Amino acid sequence: MNISPFKLSMNKKIVFRPGSIDELADEIKFYGSSTVLFIGSKSLKTGGKLERIEKLLKKNDISYKIYNVNDEPSPDLIDRITEELRGVEPDSITAVGGGSVIDTGKAVSAMLKEEGSVCDFLEGIGERKTSGQKIPFIAVPTTAGTGSEATYNAVLCRVGEQGFKKSLRHSNYCPDAVIIDPELYYGCPSHVAASSGMDALAQLIESYLSTKATFVTDLLLTGAIEGMFEALPIVTFDRNIGEICDMDCSDAWEKMAYGAYISGLALSNCGYCIVHGMAGAVGGFFKAPHGAVCGSLLAEGIKQTILKLEKEDPESPSLLKAAKLGYIIAKSEDMLPKEARARFIQIIESMTESMRIPRLSAFGITEESLAKIASASSNKNSPIFFNQDEMIELLMNRL
Ligand SMILES: [Fe+2]
Repeated sequence: MNISPFKLSMNKKIVFRPGSIDELADEIKFYGSSTVLFIGSKSLKTGGKLERIEKLLKKNDISYKIYNVNDEPSPDLIDRITEELRGVEPDSITAVGGGSVIDTGKAVSAMLKEEGSVCDFLEGIGERKTSGQKIPFIAVPTTAGTGSEATYNAVLCRVGEQGFKKSLRHSNYCPDAVIIDPELYYGCPSHVAASSGMDALAQLIESYLSTKATFVTDLLLTGAIEGMFEALPIVTFDRNIGEICDMDCSDAWEKMAYGAYISGLALSNCGYCIVHGMAGAVGGFFKAPHGAVCGSLLAEGIKQTILKLEKEDPESPSLLKAAKLGYIIAKSEDMLPKEARARFIQIIESMTESMRIPRLSAFGITEESLAKIASASSNKNSPIFFNQDEMIELLMNRL
């Protein structure tokens, strides 16, 4: 094995175990006796999970204040909460929920150590540099999607004509501790599992094909990608055939939880390619769920990347890697590399169909808006460069 140079940033502590939510109070108490708890709007309350967490906190004499997060966080939301909490700084911030909830907690934990608006520090928007200081931050994901529990940026979004989707980023912002309890993912509605799972899958595949991938991330990614391809059709079973899924999905949810975590870890270390490069731009202009946009663009983005590489850079290592994924996912080595890549694309296309991931037009995107999206898109870590016209064509294929 050739050990090439690498850098890897990650959480200080990761707990991965069904039932590990019971360790949350210990993690909070490590930092003190008070926390601010960010939670999502629905699933935590309906499944009795919030009662279980509150009982734990009370039993351990932890004082807490709860904030509900209902949407992708905006700079205004972060500024408002930060102002409310100034002067009564908690010992830690805890976020239990999906990517929006974790990003909110991450941004608030950072901004409590800075003066001014979060906009002053956003990449591509503000001029100021963050200090990197923060309140200790604990993340507990409940959806298998963005992998925000492993990343060191918080994505904030302002929608509209002057809209943007930008990051607050510092290598110190990675959650200090992450508790991954696959049991918290049970009962996730299948449309949410489908779109958030496709987001994670896009992050995994793009990190693997990225020019910044390392041999360490490659080792982590192949197993996580294989698990995600096995698990996604199971946890979205009822979406495929229109029936309620009542089979035991525990094994599949463990693969989903692991895959989403690795997708965040890899994304923050390897960067993204064309799919997330365009999905970020779409999210700034349209109120479209990030996961569904990534899912909608995934097969076409990977297909065009592979076709362009085959034509313009046939010796690219990313082509060999795409073929390897084809062999792994199709569970067959009886193909030429080009056939394996075609099979890989075909499997993603049929998953996109069977999970009924919408086309871009479902989010109000029209032909007239494609040039604007393309000019705001980025593909700096893509193994092959897409120009403006090529990006418009790619988007057009998914309208
Ligand atoms: Fe994503």
